Amino acid sequence: MFLQEHLDGFCTSIHLFAQHLSIELISEEKYAACGSASPNNSMGRVIAVANQKGGVGKTTTAINLAASFAAAEVNTLLVDCDPQSNATSGLGFVKDPERVSSYHLLMGAATGDEALLTTELEQLWLIPSHKNLIGANLELVDADRREFRMRDAIAPLRDRFQFIVLDCPPALDLLTLNALVAADAVLIPMQGEYFALEGISELLDTIERIRAALNPTLDIEGVVLTMFDKRANLAQQVMTELKNYFGDKLCRTTVPRNIRLAEAPSHGKAALVYDPRSKGAESYIKLAKEIIERQPAAVTPQPAENLAGIPASGQTSDGGPQASEQQITTEGTEEHRGDAAVEEIAPAEMDKSA
Ligand SMILES: Nc1ncnc2c1ncn2[C@@H]1O[C@H](COP(=O)(O)OP(=O)(O)OP(=O)(O)O)[C@@H](O)[C@H]1O
Ligand SMILES: [Mg+2]
Repeated sequence: MFLQEHLDGFCTSIHLFAQHLSIELISEEKYAACGSASPNNSMGRVIAVANQKGGVGKTTTAINLAASFAAAEVNTLLVDCDPQSNATSGLGFVKDPERVSSYHLLMGAATGDEALLTTELEQLWLIPSHKNLIGANLELVDADRREFRMRDAIAPLRDRFQFIVLDCPPALDLLTLNALVAADAVLIPMQGEYFALEGISELLDTIERIRAALNPTLDIEGVVLTMFDKRANLAQQVMTELKNYFGDKLCRTTVPRNIRLAEAPSHGKAALVYDPRSKGAESYIKLAKEIIERQPAAVTPQPAENLAGIPASGQTSDGGPQASEQQITTEGTEEHRGDAAVEEIAPAEMDKSA
């Protein structure tokens, strides 16, 4: 089988990478003496958007999924875990090495509260990144609890957000490892193309090893096809293989290639703010609804003012309006779907392909 051959063929693991960096994975038991409880027992769903293959739509997915959760009136935090800082700039924040960022969190130099930024959307917060984060990969090699730094940093924030979305870099490095250890689940964006499958097999291997050593409850939230052209034969073939392998974990919602999704970050906006009627914005709103519906515990809208302890007027993106003017609900957007209908794999179609 197409995917299975690749799964069998690729055994590169985080251990190999760890050896490369002289990192030995240390299980959480060894850290027990440090005394911090597992944050995975508390409220809020932490979703790492990860795929070590570059350019598959991780950041586009992280920004627009987080924005769609927020637009559904669910308090949401987006954490930029990538030194490229594309999620940070994509929400309109200029580069600023002085600003408290995910680097400071990983280095234990700041708390999550100190790093929080408000955004144009009332119920979306951001912990930004800066390119100095690349240094953390090396600076943390000999550090205590080096794999648990992000998990520890966001633990105090978990009961204040229903979703925390982590945008990972295109590598299975210590930064991604920190995100996967902090996460309840991983969302894997992939393009419907042949080489994308190789990356998936390597990532699955890594997830298995992280489950075994560091985060036993790490789940797969889903695999989402991005830049998807349902008319292309190869895309259909990849979808069929993924459906066979992942079953219900393959998200019904697919994200089409859409120019508005590519344009929105250069305006510092999520697509649903930049062009809420675009196919791209609609697809991520639909993906957010699908993920919300999958949660075992009901996800309910919450007023932003419930977020005691989070500054009401932090730094906002380049002079943009505060969100209240732009309140967008998933229902409102759906009314306008019309001929810009979002591509979705109909359950019947998925069954046929399985
Ligand atoms: N559905 C889409 N339609 C059109 N363009 C898209 C879509 N998704 C992503 N892109 C564009 O593709 C490029 C790569 O996307 P993105 O930055 O989200 O990928 P990534 O996986 O985060 O990349 P990296 O691995 O470098 O972090 C960007 O220019 C983005 O605007
Ligand atoms: Mg990215």
